[in-house]
Amino acid sequence: MREIVEKLESLREEARLGGGQRRIDAQHARGKLTARERIEALLDPDSFEEVGMYVGHRCVDFGMAEQQMPGDGCVTGHGRIHGRTVFVFSQDFTVFGGSLSETNAEKICAIMDMAMKVGAPVIGLNDSGGARIQEGVASLAGYAEVFQRNVLASGVIPQISAIMGPCAGGAVYSPALTDFIAMVKDTSYMFVTGPDVVKTVTHEIITAEALGGAVTHATKSGVADFAYENDMELLKQLRRLMSFLPSNNREKAPRVETLDVDDRPDESLDFLVPDDAQKPYDMKELVEKVVDNGDFLETQASYAKNIITGFARMDGQTVGIVANQPMVLAGCLDISSAIKGARFVRFCDCFNIPLLTFVDVPGFLPGSQQELGGIIKHGAKLLYAYAEATVPKITVITRKAYGGAYDVMSSKHLRGDVNFAWPNAEIAVMGPKGASEIIFRHEIKNAEDPEAKLKEKTDQYAEKFANPFIAAQRGFIDEVILPHNTRLRAIRALRLMADKQLSNPWKKHDNMPL
Ligand code: COA
Repeated sequence: MREIVEKLESLREEARLGGGQRRIDAQHARGKLTARERIEALLDPDSFEEVGMYVGHRCVDFGMAEQQMPGDGCVTGHGRIHGRTVFVFSQDFTVFGGSLSETNAEKICAIMDMAMKVGAPVIGLNDSGGARIQEGVASLAGYAEVFQRNVLASGVIPQISAIMGPCAGGAVYSPALTDFIAMVKDTSYMFVTGPDVVKTVTHEIITAEALGGAVTHATKSGVADFAYENDMELLKQLRRLMSFLPSNNREKAPRVETLDVDDRPDESLDFLVPDDAQKPYDMKELVEKVVDNGDFLETQASYAKNIITGFARMDGQTVGIVANQPMVLAGCLDISSAIKGARFVRFCDCFNIPLLTFVDVPGFLPGSQQELGGIIKHGAKLLYAYAEATVPKITVITRKAYGGAYDVMSSKHLRGDVNFAWPNAEIAVMGPKGASEIIFRHEIKNAEDPEAKLKEKTDQYAEKFANPFIAAQRGFIDEVILPHNTRLRAIRALRLMADKQLSNPWKKHDNMPL
């Protein structure tokens, strides 16, 4: 027995050392943690239980039979975050560059299958040179097995990807199928084809960082949801993200006791919107003043900034915030913001997270770039997402709600449950000036002083339509509320809707515009 225990200990020791001290040192020298250090930092202390520690690869070609490292370059298992079970895989770059072997993929699939059985999230810590080159198609098959599971798990359990080193070729598609991607600045990159291939094929010279670094994906491509300074920061923030999410699609997000009272009027909100309707203001200020303790976890904070998305709590309960940002493109909806918003709304709807939407939208962004880029199809995504969502939907119009964009932004017509407007809200087909220029065109043209006529007509139109009362008269707005009471009214509406039951007609799946 003692011999067996000693053998076990030595195997464990060997597995913990991964590719050996030299490669661990190299990993540290790059400012990266090892696969196991990352798991330690991610999970609650002493909660990690490893699965498949002794698994080895089956490859015998290219001298691989002599190179066996227990665990085969991927640490898998489960543990807890804030006391709740999560499954984790962490690719070990010190073992064959974290490359994905057939057995290594089987380990990932095994924990994904377990996670589906028990209804717990999967977090993947990616740091890999891609498919295990010595294994060829066996490794590619492994990727596809993971992809298939990613798709079946989508909308059932939260799936989170952290990119903490290389992630290229087919390897990018598992993270792409998951709900959120977080990257580390300077030490991680993601691309389908790297700079060398790009140079050979297109003669374009570009660095790995510019092609697929964290900043690139968080600001330009929108592939990444979060970009962090280093491994520790990323892992800390993933813990925070998990605190907002339920474990699966049958649960609600955990309630967190808060000392922030519901009845907390904020008089400064009465002065947030400038008198001049053309002037911007920072919608994030409103979000932070309304939610519990000002605690707002923004997603895709540096991408399509004309729409704000993220998680917060109201009365201790997670909500998904979607808000137009008048500071950027005057809050107009465009292709990127519609896609960003749609994906976020759909995530919330999958996981029973109520939506709180703040609207100040002058319309869709005009221009050939948008039209030729397919704003019709892409704008429809956000509309579709709101229309199909069955979670509680609370809407507050803070200023403009014009045209089709009014309809899109969680309007009553898309099954908005409780729709509020601030007294200064303008709900109309378009802005008063634009509207007057069209409907009074002849009168203005023939006037002695066209400028003065335009102003007169604009004022008339504004008085008639640029207010919330016509919409309220029709029942499209449930109540005109005072800005300082927004938190209280939103919390009451969320409480009212807490046990909302609504389902869509049965279908195999929908056919949302892609
Ligand atoms: N399969 C097998 N082993 C791999 C591998 C892969 N796909 N990628 C890296 N490795 C091994 C390397 O042979 C090296 O082994 P060693 O420590 O025994 O010398 C180790 O992982 C580290 O790789 P190295 O190239 O020294 O690290 P790097 O940081 O300089 O470069 C990469 C990292 C990912 C850019 C580079 O390894 C690479 O280009 N890998 C191949 C990528 C690829 O084409 N993948 C297949 C298609 S998806």
